[in-house]
Amino acid sequence: MFVCLGNICRSPMAEALLAHKSSEKGLRLATQSSGTAAYHIGESPDHRTMQVLEANGIKFKHKAQQFQYSHFEEFDYVIVMDESNQRDVTNLGNDQVNSKVHLMRSFDISGQDMTVADPWYGDIHDFEECYDTLDRCIDRFIHFLVEKHESLKY
Ligand code: 4NP
Repeated sequence: MFVCLGNICRSPMAEALLAHKSSEKGLRLATQSSGTAAYHIGESPDHRTMQVLEANGIKFKHKAQQFQYSHFEEFDYVIVMDESNQRDVTNLGNDQVNSKVHLMRSFDISGQDMTVADPWYGDIHDFEECYDTLDRCIDRFIHFLVEKHESLKY
């Protein structure tokens, strides 16, 4: 479960990338995304997110949903885009389930920045940069999952 604020820019992009890459590799993973805020529930991803995904050959459909406690029970990993998402999600959780929460950029091999910057107020270049960051993070995340969970290899 990928989580950002609005569930229309960053987390749907991460979900689309993981779904695309895992299906290419023949890995069976349940992927979803959500937002901590309710602003955009039911809406499709931002057109700039769709534009960048399409430019990279990734087909994707999604309707925004809000993160809720039951997602902790449904998913093994809750991957947040920034520290504000991390605060909101862990405020909803408890010691037991909060161990499932990870910053997306903790899987990044490049740099010390722990934030996937919000491109919402930016332009298409900010969405392209967001895509490049998530592309790197998702590759490492898949590597981590395959190393950690033997059953995914078959
Ligand atoms: P996201 O971007 O969290 O990456 O989906 C945003 C989308 C909408 C808003 C903020 C961030 N908003 O304030 O409506």
